Amino acid sequence: MAFVLFLLVLTISTVFADEDAFIGVNIGTELSDMPHPTQVVALLKAQQIRHVRLYNSDRGMLLALANTGIKVAISIPNEQLLGIGQSNSTAANWVSQNIVSHYPATNITTICVGSEVPTTLPNAAPVLINALKYIHSALVASNLDRQIKVSTPLASSIILDSFPPSQAFFNHSWNPVLVPLLKFLQSTNSYFMLNIYPYFDYMQSNGVIPLDYALFKPLPANKEAVDANTLLHYSNVFDAMVDAAYFAMADLNVTNIPVLVTESGWPSKGDSNEPDATLENANTYNSNLIRHVLNKTGTPKHPGISVSTFLYELYNEDMKPGPLSEKNWGLFDPNGNPVYILRLTDAGSVFANDTANQTYCTAKEGADEKMLQAALDWACGPGKVDCSAMLQGQVCYEPDTVLAHATYAFDAYYHQMGKTPGSCDFNGVAAITTTNPSHGSCLFLGSGTNGTLLNSTIPAMDSKSSDSPQAKFGFLAAYFVAGVLGCAVLFLNGLI
Ligand SMILES: *[C@@H]1O[C@H](CO)[C@@H](O)[C@H](O)[C@H]1NC(C)=O
Ligand SMILES: *[C@@H]1O[C@H](CO)[C@@H](O)[C@H](O)[C@H]1NC(C)=O
Ligand SMILES: *[C@@H]1O[C@H](CO)[C@@H](O)[C@H](O)[C@H]1NC(C)=O
Ligand SMILES: *[C@@H]1O[C@H](CO)[C@@H](O)[C@H](O)[C@H]1NC(C)=O
Ligand SMILES: *[C@@H]1O[C@H](CO)[C@@H](O)[C@H](O)[C@H]1NC(C)=O
Ligand SMILES: *[C@@H]1O[C@H](CO)[C@@H](O)[C@H](O)[C@H]1NC(C)=O
Ligand SMILES: *[C@@H]1O[C@H](CO)[C@@H](O)[C@H](O)[C@H]1NC(C)=O
Ligand SMILES: *[C@@H]1O[C@H](CO)[C@@H](O)[C@H](O)[C@H]1NC(C)=O
Ligand SMILES: *[C@@H]1O[C@H](CO)[C@@H](O)[C@H](O)[C@H]1NC(C)=O
Repeated sequence: MAFVLFLLVLTISTVFADEDAFIGVNIGTELSDMPHPTQVVALLKAQQIRHVRLYNSDRGMLLALANTGIKVAISIPNEQLLGIGQSNSTAANWVSQNIVSHYPATNITTICVGSEVPTTLPNAAPVLINALKYIHSALVASNLDRQIKVSTPLASSIILDSFPPSQAFFNHSWNPVLVPLLKFLQSTNSYFMLNIYPYFDYMQSNGVIPLDYALFKPLPANKEAVDANTLLHYSNVFDAMVDAAYFAMADLNVTNIPVLVTESGWPSKGDSNEPDATLENANTYNSNLIRHVLNKTGTPKHPGISVSTFLYELYNEDMKPGPLSEKNWGLFDPNGNPVYILRLTDAGSVFANDTANQTYCTAKEGADEKMLQAALDWACGPGKVDCSAMLQGQVCYEPDTVLAHATYAFDAYYHQMGKTPGSCDFNGVAAITTTNPSHGSCLFLGSGTNGTLLNSTIPAMDSKSSDSPQAKFGFLAAYFVAGVLGCAVLFLNGLI
């Protein structure tokens, strides 16, 4: 057994040793005020996000991403799958319109064909393999198959009995799709794409999965889950799920396809029956996930082989139907303000410190109006703040209140002074905040999105398209069953 494991580690590392782990971000667009592609890209740059995944192939986004160095995974929505999977020439047209016309200015690295097709559109599953093959052969014809990988994101619910991971296997009903899929991924050097949602696994486990285990928080040794077959210790749901995917592939005799996590995240707000959708948990999950991925810890089965992951997601999508949590998976609001400030001091390369730690100076709500007016007059006079944007008819005139005008002037002064201590005080009527006070086209200094950068040659997004993380309960079901049977989960009670 040890020897077999060793061999597996070896194969995967030789295939993917040269790839660096990355954190990317999914960009869903079901927002009532979706930012213009140029603003989206300004936010990505400000946050040093270098990998994104789109849920379609929006032309405006692809143009805005050109010459930015950002690597782009684009998607073929499920609605287009049938057409492409049934016609080689439709696939070739799609590639020529959406890839060839943008590459290499836009660095498209990956095509996600469909989304969770077996579990959400079982009838389309038979055409999925053809769609993958047709897209790939069109890439070959354009000599782009080495630069661009083709795969299809799957829901983790296709993996059954995922704990202990060594016993995981795919729902055999899907073998007619999975066997040729794995063969295709193997022969084209592509990834096994998996969406992993420990939040749902935890929610559905009725207390079997500890919250800390889902959130990557340290567990006491006697709470760590141990796979009785391999004696591997699992300290979080994410790793267990990735390893379950490796074992499920091995069950079909495939051992050299790396896992790429196409979606993972945690909602920051929920309805009253979703008490664990909180800012604190979302921040903990995403911060820990980012550190885990970038630290190249790997999983217990494949230590050191890190699993690149696309966070779900960039923006809160207020138009998403369903429970409140559905609208609150985002890291940013439509103005580019962080919903919470990720704790990433030791992660460095992604999410720039300065904007992730962006601060603004605002007038205190309820402060004495005379003191505010005096401070405002001072800032716009001796303080040398350019207050012209607040003149009647200018972008920051409305709302015409002392509070709003003072906030504008205080923030400008604070940034003008390099955010030095004491530059946001104004006799106690000002306070530092992380909430961007920009409104409409009145943009405050330091806000990531700069409306003046709008490039009118780039069209706005024309189609709302996104994915829903609803009902992805693969891990939970298996974990729960295992827990009930009491035979598979071995909690180490000082056993080793
Ligand atoms: C695109 O990204 C890949 C992967 O990082 C890199 O090797 C390649 O040089 C990039 N291509 C362009 C045109 O920037
Ligand atoms: C599909 O088209 C490509 C060129 O785009 C060609 O190389 C390939 O042989 C075709 N495949 C089938 C099954 O017709
Ligand atoms: C396996 O997939 C089939 C087809 O979707 C489904 O009917 C069945 O319930 C699944 N089995 C389990 C154990 O989830
Ligand atoms: C995997 O390999 C074993 C042993 O060679 C064989 O018995 C089994 O049928 C294979 N399974 C598949 C799905 O190919
Ligand atoms: C990063 O990895 C090292 C070993 O590779 C480990 O000691 C350390 O705890 C890890 N840090 C985090 C934050 O996971
Ligand atoms: C963020 O801050 C940390 C520690 O202060 C530093 O090591 C890292 O390089 C910074 N990252 C960026 C992108 O500035
Ligand atoms: C965030 O900003 C505060 C105040 O300017 C500063 O003390 C702190 O070190 C910053 N944190 C990071 C991670 O840059
Ligand atoms: C926005 O960008 C323009 C052009 O680079 C610059 O002149 C302007 O000062 C910026 N505005 C803000 C609020 O950052
Ligand atoms: C606008 O975008 C187009 C296409 O990417 C580019 O050619 C043009 O230089 C851009 N204009 C400005 C002002 O940035």
